[in-house]
Amino acid sequence: MTATTGIIDLHCHFLHGIDDGARNLNEALDLARAAVADGITASAMTPHIHPGRYPNQKSVIAVHVQAFQQALNHHGIPLAVYPGAELRASDESLSQLQAQEVPFLGEYKGLKILLLEFPHQGLPAWGLGFVYRLLEQGIRPLIAHPERNKQVMANVDRIQPYLAAGCWLQVTGGSLLGQFGKASEKAAWALMEQDAVNVVASDAHNLDSRPPHLKAALEAVAAEYGERRAERLFKTTPAQILGLG
Ligand SMILES: [Fe+2]
Repeated sequence: MTATTGIIDLHCHFLHGIDDGARNLNEALDLARAAVADGITASAMTPHIHPGRYPNQKSVIAVHVQAFQQALNHHGIPLAVYPGAELRASDESLSQLQAQEVPFLGEYKGLKILLLEFPHQGLPAWGLGFVYRLLEQGIRPLIAHPERNKQVMANVDRIQPYLAAGCWLQVTGGSLLGQFGKASEKAAWALMEQDAVNVVASDAHNLDSRPPHLKAALEAVAAEYGERRAERLFKTTPAQILGLG
């Protein structure tokens, strides 16, 4: 993969009307235009799957992604979109996984990659057991924005057992720029310093407060750790997960 390859965003909420992201197609198209303007060429659509709150499932998400790609093509917006989901960890979501109604981001080195969200308040006591059950089934959790988890913000070492188990980490670009406050910024850079981060993504929901921007975060990472690390986190690893690399 060359330095000119576009940025690939593995976490965003563009699909309209199925979670707290875009509210209608026009908003979704505007989010896609903003992503393209920021240098993003491919985005995984990762609506929440949160039983009782956002009851999304693989078959429905696939239909939405296909329709959205057609709308992007129709409007001449050069963004490739792929199916995914942000699964909230719970007993119900485990059942949904077993029923094969949760889309994976892709497969990498023999393991399916699942974007997994824990409650923001903290890592639940059963969290580690939950990720072991996934790993036993050939699923590698890519933990969404650990730097925004209150327990991790208080003590970044709280994530270590998850790393030791084999989880990967997705840090949100805005956290690196201080857009979610000082504590998550500090945690994000501490994880970066440990080279514990596998992917940086936007977690975009809207144009106002959570836009689909990654270029500024890429530049901040490149300034601190060099172009090579930035390429890996924003382009190469995401491309490999989607099967593009
Ligand atoms: Fe998200």
